[in-house]
Amino acid sequence: MCGIVGYIGSRQAAPVILDGLSRLEYRGYDSAGMAVFDGQRIQMRKAVGRLKVLENLTHGGEAMKGNMGIGHTRWATHGAPSDANSHPHMNAAETIAVVHNGIIENYIPLKKKMVSRGYTFVSETDTEVLAHLLDYYYKGNPLEAITKVLHRVEGSYALGILFADHPDEIYAVRKDSPLIVGTSSDGCFIASDVPAILKYTRTVYYVENQEVVRLGKDGMRFFSVDEEEISKEPVTIDWDANAAEKAGYEHFMLKEMYEQPKTITDTISPRIQDDTVVIDELQMTDGELSAVKRLHIVACGSAYHAGVTGKYVLEGLARIPVEVDLASEFRYRDPLMGEGSLVIVISQSGETADTLAALRESQARGYKVLGIVNVVGSSIAREADACMYTWAGPEIAVATTKAYSAQLAALYLLAIKFGLARGTIDSDRAAGLIRDLRRLPDQIELLLGQKEKIQRFANRYVGARDIFFIGRGIDYAISLEGSLKLKEISYVHSEAYAAGELKHGTISLIEDGTLVVAVSTQPKLYQKTISNIVEVKARGAFVMAVTNEENKPMEKVSDYCVYLPETNPYFANSLAIIPLQLFGYYVAVGKGCDVDKPRNLAKSVTVE
Ligand code: F6R
Repeated sequence: MCGIVGYIGSRQAAPVILDGLSRLEYRGYDSAGMAVFDGQRIQMRKAVGRLKVLENLTHGGEAMKGNMGIGHTRWATHGAPSDANSHPHMNAAETIAVVHNGIIENYIPLKKKMVSRGYTFVSETDTEVLAHLLDYYYKGNPLEAITKVLHRVEGSYALGILFADHPDEIYAVRKDSPLIVGTSSDGCFIASDVPAILKYTRTVYYVENQEVVRLGKDGMRFFSVDEEEISKEPVTIDWDANAAEKAGYEHFMLKEMYEQPKTITDTISPRIQDDTVVIDELQMTDGELSAVKRLHIVACGSAYHAGVTGKYVLEGLARIPVEVDLASEFRYRDPLMGEGSLVIVISQSGETADTLAALRESQARGYKVLGIVNVVGSSIAREADACMYTWAGPEIAVATTKAYSAQLAALYLLAIKFGLARGTIDSDRAAGLIRDLRRLPDQIELLLGQKEKIQRFANRYVGARDIFFIGRGIDYAISLEGSLKLKEISYVHSEAYAAGELKHGTISLIEDGTLVVAVSTQPKLYQKTISNIVEVKARGAFVMAVTNEENKPMEKVSDYCVYLPETNPYFANSLAIIPLQLFGYYVAVGKGCDVDKPRNLAKSVTVE
């Protein structure tokens, strides 16, 4: 996600901020900006694109005089990458500047209120509302204004704030977004991650939720959201910058797997209001939603696998026919579409060539396209008629994990929305589904806690030649993704099969000791999958089962069981995929593969 760096001290601030931001580039960003107090007023510079552009604009920061400032690299969420949407954001008088990492979930009602109070907005961001709120509540005491704002905003944030009439201090505050502050003999620092300031200090404080920090030239003070002063102990950092970028994880892929609970929360929370699903971005009334006769989901790779799950969930909950296509097939197969067809394209990068071509082909035929996209302002996000963002943040590992999970969450929301509009589910059922959706992040956390157990099991398969994944219905969709995760990063040959299809050919490949991963999360299909497990076991397979706690008979027929917490069967993919991601990851680690950058693969496939 975005990066924040702030500095106050005896050095010139802008070069320190630029240097810090450059160490946060790994987090991903599309624009950058800085605000520095020059002794008279706050100077601000922003630029779309690489940090280099901002560096050139400011001569490496030298052109911005002053010893206190805040800087930001932005990964677009609300509003495309543009100068206007880049941070910092200021009040109209340009006396308060703010940088923000996170999402202000209630920014729409807050923005309406501020507009009615006469405030003018110049960006599409949620952050700008903070600059105007600070302006509104500021009566000469920054701490008071900040805490008043904190009491009114919902969501996640890490903030750096400057007030022009308090030239000896800058402020930092956070809730559910990372932020640290550091101190040295020549100043104090704010950063969203340790590597940004390691060059200057190893003495840092981890800011806790809703703590406010006042940083001065010679020290800092901490306050609660009720303005009471609190004391904190510093931590001395003894690890190197490389490790810090991955927040202590061995690989970005593992870090991103661990970000999945947050990713799901960020994708669903802003779209759940009063126990119902609100997806403003759809720009469709309930009448228009119920007039849709057929959905065409089109995507590539893991996004396609999310689409296969989406088919089961949308057909099940909204009783609407869904076709799922690989984009590379869809674009050339002259698909039969008709009145009432709506196309949904899914893409993390928003730049996948085949998916983009499928979008254009659909629009050329006169059909409306909804994008489910992670990268804000990407080609698919811009060209789709409507775009629902998955707020997973930048994904650095080539093999997707958290963006895939966010795609699933977006599809669940769509299924509930369509179901309600079409009357196939009532508000009570929707409320129950929403309850289950909200439990997913904690349940995923629990499954991630089993990583050592899965690692021990995976170590036994480092030398495997073939591994098969089987399942029925949604479990088949999970198998497709589990198999892809394993093979793309570990180079172990693997295939996913609809369990009932095995005996039509593939079963001849099962030999003594072949690992078969059987996914069984759908109570209606337990018995059927058990029969398929018995068939492969009779041919010598070793079976790892991923199933629900209640499905105890599974223990008798399989060799190794991973149990999942209870959820609605429609959402089981979000849980079952966690042990499969961990399994693929640990087989690859055991083989010594370059997990984050598997051979021959690119993060964004922009060619056909
Ligand atoms: C697999 C993976 C790929 C992508 C596919 C589509 O781990 O990441 O299969 O899912 O290349 O990419 P996007 O979602 O960017 O369109």
